[in-house]
Amino acid sequence: MIPSLIKVLILVFIVSCSETAKPNLNPQEIKILTNLSEYGLFANQGDTQMVPKNESFKYDLNTPLFSDYTDKDRVIFLPKDTQMQYLSEKEFEFPVGSIIAKTFSLSSELSRVDNKPGRRLETRLLIHQPKGWFAVSYVWDGEDKDAHIAYAGENIPLIHKTVDSQKKFTYAVPSRNQCTSCHQSYEGRTQSIVPIGIKAKHLNKEYTSKNTISFRDPVEMTTNQLELMKKKGMLAGLPFWGIPKVADFANVDESVNDRARAYLDINCAHCHNKNAAGGMNSKLILSSDESDISSLGACKTPGSAGKGGGGLRYDIVPGHADQSILVYRTETTEPGAMMPQIGRALTHVEGIELLKKWINQMDKKDCP
Ligand code: HEC
Ligand code: HEC
Repeated sequence: MIPSLIKVLILVFIVSCSETAKPNLNPQEIKILTNLSEYGLFANQGDTQMVPKNESFKYDLNTPLFSDYTDKDRVIFLPKDTQMQYLSEKEFEFPVGSIIAKTFSLSSELSRVDNKPGRRLETRLLIHQPKGWFAVSYVWDGEDKDAHIAYAGENIPLIHKTVDSQKKFTYAVPSRNQCTSCHQSYEGRTQSIVPIGIKAKHLNKEYTSKNTISFRDPVEMTTNQLELMKKKGMLAGLPFWGIPKVADFANVDESVNDRARAYLDINCAHCHNKNAAGGMNSKLILSSDESDISSLGACKTPGSAGKGGGGLRYDIVPGHADQSILVYRTETTEPGAMMPQIGRALTHVEGIELLKKWINQMDKKDCP
């Protein structure tokens, strides 16, 4: 009782003391700037820990996208006194003037070939303009001081080290067109850019002290992440029950099926859904709410022949991961075959292990 009262008092005190300058958020149109620092999103951009300014929320997902073993930090910035609107199945609605920032950094398994001291690689921004979302990445200077706009993307040579191997690879910062190929929706027929991870099922998780770095919330606490967004006045319409949730792909306490479906959802379903090109072309639907096993690939012959299949016949042969194109294409780094075809240069060993387990656990079946 008493410690939590003290926490609340500290919180009230700090919140009332942290009225710092507001970042450059405009409910009309946000000017696209050359350097990340010019947006004023982070209080201390040059420091090792970037602290986002007010009206922000640093969040996490149950299962993240695999991006070559980089570390990722994600922050939502809303214009003052505005809110996101909860939707149960789709990405939340955002007010114009919102910015979502996702920063990719070297994890302990990665190092730079050029030996520069900086750990940050790129900060991707989704900026909500009156006409829709604008997507672009800013590439860091190798010293963690500032990042520069990269319309055409950039290649950064890196090394991936594990206990028994060391591999050089090219980390690719995506171009603006490539942002669109993943952050796309054809719903309502016109193509638009949409956020991917800001959905109830991905955000419905415990919020731990690890991601508690915003000024508004300096006190260590554990609570549901969506609940906390609501408490901070940043999320409207959160229902009391019935909020969807996907699994954490790495949590062995959850079922292999739930973990694999969460993995496919965040890594593949932004293209493999009914409103995106990948799903429309291949008819392979990998969203977590897809219940038809043949749409998921069981005994499904690929729409497009060619080297993508690696000589295999079906997307999934239940009980036989080694005969399943879905596993082959997620494991390979062969251009033209690998899935996703952008966004990675390495194989996600843990993800592949999970997908194999999932398929091998299915009732064995010989496809016709
Ligand atoms: C290979 C597909 C892919 C590409 C290419 C891609 N993204 Fe994303 N992006 C995702 C996925 C999946 C998520 C959600 C999962 C996560 O955050 O780990 C995401 C999340 C984000 C987020 C956090 C908000 C959200 O949508 O969940 C931002 C901001 C973002 N991307 C910006 C960009 C920008 C800018 C580019 C281009 C420079 C880009 N992305 C390119 C797949 C992609
Ligand atoms: C950036 C969009 C995109 C992402 C992300 C993506 N795919 Fe694809 N995928 C496509 C497109 C487009 C096709 C059709 C052309 C082809 O076969 O190369 C396709 C085809 C496939 C096929 C052949 C399906 C068929 O029946 O024709 C498989 C299997 C597949 N993808 C698996 C995956 C898996 C598994 C993931 C996630 C690990 C994934 N894809 C992520 C765009 C994407």
